[in-house]
Amino acid sequence: MKFVRFMMRNAAMLNAPKHIDYYAKFSPLPLSMKQFLDFGTTNACEKTSFAFLRQELPVRMSNSLKEISLLPDQLIETQSVQLVHSWFVQSLMDILEFQDKCPDDPRVLAEFVETLVTIRNRHNDVVATMAQGVIEYRDTFGADPVTSQNIQYFLDRFYMSRVSIRMLINQHTLIFDGSTNPGHPSSIGCIDSCCDVTDVIRDAYESAKMLCEQNYLGSPELELREINAKNKSKPIEISYVPSHLYHMVFELFKNAMRATIENHETSSTLPPIKVMVALGGEDLSIKISDRGGGVPFRKIERLFSYMYSTAPRPTIGDHQRTPMAGFGYGLPISRLYARYFQGDLQLYPMEGYGTDAVIQLKALSTDSVEKLPVFNKTALRNYKVNQEADDWCVPSKEPLNVAAYKAAK
Ligand SMILES: Nc1ncnc2c1ncn2[C@@H]1O[C@H](COP(=O)(O)OP(=O)(O)O)[C@@H](O)[C@H]1O
Ligand SMILES: [Mg+2]
Repeated sequence: MKFVRFMMRNAAMLNAPKHIDYYAKFSPLPLSMKQFLDFGTTNACEKTSFAFLRQELPVRMSNSLKEISLLPDQLIETQSVQLVHSWFVQSLMDILEFQDKCPDDPRVLAEFVETLVTIRNRHNDVVATMAQGVIEYRDTFGADPVTSQNIQYFLDRFYMSRVSIRMLINQHTLIFDGSTNPGHPSSIGCIDSCCDVTDVIRDAYESAKMLCEQNYLGSPELELREINAKNKSKPIEISYVPSHLYHMVFELFKNAMRATIENHETSSTLPPIKVMVALGGEDLSIKISDRGGGVPFRKIERLFSYMYSTAPRPTIGDHQRTPMAGFGYGLPISRLYARYFQGDLQLYPMEGYGTDAVIQLKALSTDSVEKLPVFNKTALRNYKVNQEADDWCVPSKEPLNVAAYKAAK
């Protein structure tokens, strides 16, 4: 019996490319924060969510799988990328098993929740594994500017899609696993409809501070101010995913602390990290300012690159300790979280002094709409760009030979 099932499974896997082609033709359907919230409150209907996910998850996964196939061959052939690819194909096939099942059967719904949990666990190490593949590729083949640009473009889109897939899975499993969350009446799945922004910032600061003290035996203080322009006497609250906000500010605090300490090695006091939070009619802005000496403006783009870090690389698979820095993924992934709901994250360094890191988020749940990649002709064209001549002049490094002009007079 087991053998028969195994054979059937293998036969189904052979059909995977056909399914990927089919589902990749659909564009993902971005949801707004408001829709996520409605799903979990007024219209909490497990059958609707099931029907939506069994179509939408294969679409998002197949769009990602199509883009993997556009990576350089030697990168695709690495063991790590093969592994990630196989996880995606397996998960796609797991969900496709539900295409013909009846949503009215409670056993089907329960099985679906179980399958989603299995998929979430299967994909836990996607980022670290993909990173390993990129490192292997770069160490063996180097990285020319076109390839680096393609890998950056791919990873931004691939990780964004992953964030979105996990969001869908988390919402469904948290809302429909039968348990409520009495401690957090404002929580709907992993969204908090009254997310206290400064609370999350203080939590993230405390964790970064602990890590910093373990590494450097000291840490800068926090000075936090908030302005709620909508209602001056009330704390700042928005509908948001607290874990995403936490991730972003935690990464920014670690960077700010490391820079502050390394820039003040010889002084006895450390300047504080100043945080300003402002809520307006449209935007929620968070500015984290350090006096860690900044970086040259020219290098900003590099800091968001998946292939760059100035810290010694920590060992992969070291789950014991969250490293203070090292993979170089802190900034790019944080920026993705900010962009996921139409926000952004930017760095404004003043070399020789310090850095302002600014997170912009949408204040209104109707404006917070998922930002999702779609695999289409434009995306395809972006992978095909060659390095053509720039349409801006490249300044010569040699001093100008004025004599040539004199002769022409
Ligand atoms: N606030 C900051 N001040 C100075 N340099 C910074 C700051 N934030 C980031 N950087 C630089 O950007 C690099 C990339 O940061 P990040 O993406 O968080 O990766 P990691 O911290 O793992 O190196 C850091 O190694 C550091 O050189
Ligand atoms: Mg970092």
